[in-house]
Amino acid sequence: MDSKPRVFVVTGSNKGIGKSIVKRLLQDKEEKTVYLTARNEELGLQTVKEFEQNGLKPRFHQLDITDQNSIGRLHDYLKSEHGGLNVLVNNAGVAFRGDSPLHGAKTTVGCNYFGLMNIFNSFFPLLKQNGVVVNISSVSSVHAYKRLSDGLKRRFSDSGLTVDALSILMNEFITATEDQDTFEATGWPTSAYGVSKMGVSFLTQLQQKSFDAEEPNRNIKVNSCCPGLVETDMTRGKHEKSWYQTPEEGADTPVYLSLLQANDDSIKGCFCQKRKPTTYPPQETANS
Ligand SMILES: NC(=O)c1ccc[n+]([C@@H]2O[C@H](COP(=O)([O-])OP(=O)(O)OC[C@H]3O[C@@H](n4cnc5c(N)ncnc54)[C@H](OP(=O)(O)O)[C@@H]3O)[C@@H](O)[C@H]2O)c1
Repeated sequence: MDSKPRVFVVTGSNKGIGKSIVKRLLQDKEEKTVYLTARNEELGLQTVKEFEQNGLKPRFHQLDITDQNSIGRLHDYLKSEHGGLNVLVNNAGVAFRGDSPLHGAKTTVGCNYFGLMNIFNSFFPLLKQNGVVVNISSVSSVHAYKRLSDGLKRRFSDSGLTVDALSILMNEFITATEDQDTFEATGWPTSAYGVSKMGVSFLTQLQQKSFDAEEPNRNIKVNSCCPGLVETDMTRGKHEKSWYQTPEEGADTPVYLSLLQANDDSIKGCFCQKRKPTTYPPQETANS
């Protein structure tokens, strides 16, 4: 058994929910090494300084999840410094505030889905025994699925769905958004963010499936979750103030999943809300 402190990496953690995840991990009783990462080094180091002023000591590394060189640099660093990592929280994400919910589809899916997948593919070999991955998805992934055409629902829910097939679906969506006149007939929902997060929720299940099939002895857990509606730069001003949770409240489920015990198999490959697994894709009811 490795007696060194476990190594945690949180993507996009210079602000918002990611920052609160780092804070709560550092406040937890287990001694651990927590990496606050940010695409903008200056913003990341500012947040590290703020933590240090409050007696908390995260470590820092630059990471842009859409930049393969940046991913490679953190990969090599983790490998040489710690021989890998124990817990990966894929929190970084974007949501555009354009005139249309389809605005920026390529960037949104590129970051939220393909960026997350690139991180996973690169760090997957580095995950140590009993490793944990938490992918921050959203309840928007539930709403987006419900609004798919029946044909697209069948393709997503196919028990033979592979990561390659899922990525093809994500690219088909991006292509569909390029022609506003034909978009409606394609059967996709009008939400680039929702579709990107649908990709994350399905990808999580496929990632767990591949660990279980190929390397069951590593005992890796991969889950996705919605943090709830949280007031951050991403959402501020969109809803009534009283509807929002604070970023610290939003960090609760991601942190809970990050700290699941190695011998707790109750939550694996699941989409979770308020610490609990829920059925994904959602069951269709007469009213949904
Ligand atoms: N807020 C909510 O109600 C809510 C609900 C459901 C799910 N979520 C999800 O929760 C996660 C955190 O969102 P948030 O509300 O905390 O938003 P936020 O305050 O806008 O924070 C997003 C973080 O992601 C970073 N980021 C964006 N693109 C990146 C990239 N290419 N590489 C690395 N980092 C990148 C941002 O960095 P910069 O500072 O450089 O932009 C920022 O640190 C997201 O995945 C979001 O989709 C949020």
